[in-house]
Amino acid sequence: MARPKIALIGAGQIGGTLAHLAAIKELGDVVLFDIADGVPQGKALDIAESGPSEGFDAALKGTTDYADIAGADVCIVTAGVPRKPGMSRDDLLGINLKVMKSVGEGIRDNAPNAFVICITNPLDAMVWALQQYSGLPPEKVVGMAGVLDSARFRHFLSLEFNVSMKDVSAFVLGGHGDTMVPLTRYSTVGGIPLPDLVQMGWTTQDKLDAIVQRTRDGGAEIVGLLKTGSAFYAPATSAIEMAEAYLKDQKRLLPCAAWVDGALGLKGLYVGVPTVIGAGGIERVVDIKLDKPEQEMFDKSVDAVRGLVEACKAIDDSLA
Ligand code: APR
Repeated sequence: MARPKIALIGAGQIGGTLAHLAAIKELGDVVLFDIADGVPQGKALDIAESGPSEGFDAALKGTTDYADIAGADVCIVTAGVPRKPGMSRDDLLGINLKVMKSVGEGIRDNAPNAFVICITNPLDAMVWALQQYSGLPPEKVVGMAGVLDSARFRHFLSLEFNVSMKDVSAFVLGGHGDTMVPLTRYSTVGGIPLPDLVQMGWTTQDKLDAIVQRTRDGGAEIVGLLKTGSAFYAPATSAIEMAEAYLKDQKRLLPCAAWVDGALGLKGLYVGVPTVIGAGGIERVVDIKLDKPEQEMFDKSVDAVRGLVEACKAIDDSLA
């Protein structure tokens, strides 16, 4: 059986890391696409040359021609610009919306059967625009945010409790911005919910609140340190986890920016919710129950996402 084909649209910091991870994990053959001629070709060759030491079987190709992504099983989109210190993800909207138009059309014309994972920010609005421009079924177009935000939350919690990250599970829902919703009630250490751990004296409510805030600011913390760009290792790893769930029909339950029409009281919006990813793409949106304070936080986040979608429509009236 031929290897799956993974097309990476954008061969910058995240795109290059995605290519290396996909090759090392032997998820399939990799095509790196970018408009900056030489960059995708150079990165593909460099990564291919790590193959003999790493011992992977995967072909890598760099290209500036959309025809080379033909028939891709998975497309992961990082094309666009990242933020600099002082910028919010929302400041990228105008420029990255134009990029989503060309990428969406490239995918529509060359890889219409792919499972598409968008990483470009502002995430919730960009994944919506990408689905609109590509015309692919909503269950095959999804945004990567919740896996990353939850990974950051899990990491901070594991430091606080001095336990393995493997035993910490966490859920961050809502939009991938300042209003994201880390759900402490649904986050556990070895199955014990965080509010119980506060009662057990493992941590204090104040410390937990500070961890929640650090999670919300997780992307900005990295931008502030790097100064020249935004996070790329953990975003790439998170998207690879989603791609693997699709390619191997793992039925993973992962928080993703998915098209929600009916669940959680929403009618037609891309936002971070618990999903099941398998061979069908987003096979299920998990309709969890939120208590009043959680619902209020989620509603605020949904409003912020709606605002970004409206801003997209104001820029390009073909999206209205
Ligand atoms: N088509 C294809 N590639 C493009 C296009 C386009 N229209 N416009 C820009 N690119 C490419 C750039 O040439 C660059 O190589 O996208 C790549 C982006 O890479 P980086 O600048 O290194 O950005 P990166 O850190 O990978 O982040 C990409 O993901 O997390 C988000 O906020 C982040 O929106 C940003 C995106």
